[in-house]
Amino acid sequence: MQEQNRKIKIFDSTLRDGEQSPGCSMNLADKLLVLKHLEALGVDVVEAGFAASSPGDFEAVQALARAAKTATVASLARCRRADIDRAWEAVKDARHPRIHVFIATSPLHMECKLRMTPDEVDAAAGECVRYSRSLCEDVEFSLEDCSRSERPFIYRVVKTAIDAGATTINLPDTVGFAMPGEYEALFRDVLANVPGAANVTLSCHCHNDLGLAVANSLAAVRGGATQVECCLNGIGERAGNASLEEIVMALRTRHAFFGADTGIDTTKIYGASKCVCTVTGSKLQANKAIVGENAFAHEAGIHQHGVLANPLTYEIMTPESIGLPRNKMVLGKHSGKHAFSQRLADLGFHLEGERVDELFAKFKDLADRKKTVSDADIEALARNARNADVPARIVLDRFSAVASDAITPMGAVRVKFDGELVEKTGTGDGPVNACYAAVREIAGLPDARLEVYNLTAVDGGMDAQCEATVKVSNAGRSYRGSGVSTDIVEASIRAYVQALNAALADEGAEAAQFDHPQRGDTGVHDA
Ligand code: KIV
Ligand code: ZN
Repeated sequence: MQEQNRKIKIFDSTLRDGEQSPGCSMNLADKLLVLKHLEALGVDVVEAGFAASSPGDFEAVQALARAAKTATVASLARCRRADIDRAWEAVKDARHPRIHVFIATSPLHMECKLRMTPDEVDAAAGECVRYSRSLCEDVEFSLEDCSRSERPFIYRVVKTAIDAGATTINLPDTVGFAMPGEYEALFRDVLANVPGAANVTLSCHCHNDLGLAVANSLAAVRGGATQVECCLNGIGERAGNASLEEIVMALRTRHAFFGADTGIDTTKIYGASKCVCTVTGSKLQANKAIVGENAFAHEAGIHQHGVLANPLTYEIMTPESIGLPRNKMVLGKHSGKHAFSQRLADLGFHLEGERVDELFAKFKDLADRKKTVSDADIEALARNARNADVPARIVLDRFSAVASDAITPMGAVRVKFDGELVEKTGTGDGPVNACYAAVREIAGLPDARLEVYNLTAVDGGMDAQCEATVKVSNAGRSYRGSGVSTDIVEASIRAYVQALNAALADEGAEAAQFDHPQRGDTGVHDA
């Protein structure tokens, strides 16, 4: 029998562990936007990054710490004084700062990675927690690879960290190896065997290598964890971290089973999830629990009949509970700006003033061509327009492309470059490639390399828009761009132009020796 209504803190690591995963890097503006969503959700702790890992990360953690209004802001740090100093420097201006220090405790990690004896690891843990506490009142200590560590050593290090002043102890399943029963037992055992463990926040942190991150996190809650570390959409290293929305909705939907509450406003989940998709350029699988496109769709006739008779027949949660209105008004060419901007906000895009006006004009244009404009259409338009801060030195004017299996595909592209009309032609192994060659020449970026190219139909139907997303590298840095159109070649060119505009802006900034906020990092930078 669980104690009723324990408060479970939600520690979000979308901006640290999530951002660490390939393809999920975010620039500062993206991170600030995600922070807004996290605070609207009401997460208790935002792990903003790993301040010592790069100057760009330091600046981002510092900016997030200064911007946060309600959440505790944490920076990760290895068990090294220099890391801890950097972490503290980055978070100290937050209303509620936290230093999150970690060291590995499994035999494998200690021997092969750290090359330290257990005695040395235990001593380092104590020293680093004590040093962190001399700077900050809120110190979390993580035993990396805890689920593969030996119990007596876990008890010893946890006690050392608590005695040194740790206020939160985290027992991660770093490699997603644990089974739910084992992981639950770990928490019960630590509580039973370490004096003082019940007086600190006990945290779980699960990776999804065997698809068990959420199950393990929930098992940890059953075992006595009072903080869950997770990421929106389950993004994170390798197979990802435990997904915030799944944990929160499981605790809510099975409240009687867990006897635990989070402080999360679940109606903000959908918008926050969409925002992460937008800023990382990643798509969710349609059947992703809670936030996937099909999570609340009922296709089978028998299910539809049941749901119409009583939604509880096949729905254990309502779409409204995650912020997805059930009976949304269909938007079309007669819809007004108010309804349009409300839908934008529901979809996680908080745009203002001229941005909304510009987007509304594009929406009207699209509505003229399509009978109804779907949410996916609106999201694609908004994604495409959200980087208007980057100066659009190149603006597509017109293009023509020849696709053929008989002659070499050719493309002719005319753009306005700094206001002047310029036209070039190119060839390639397809019409898109041919147009890209022309655009590259116009931009004067012959070494720009297309690293990722994705093309998706935004919605079904003959009049569907398609969305192209690209990642382009130039001079050691990467730039994303996206473009939408009912024509695939046009969408592709728009995406490419957007990415090259970002690269040009960076070159200009370099020439002017402008101190770019993310200079020095290796992240992807949106157009
Ligand atoms: O997975 C892990 O062990 C981590 C720690 C650094 C907390 O991310
Ligand atoms: Zn992790």
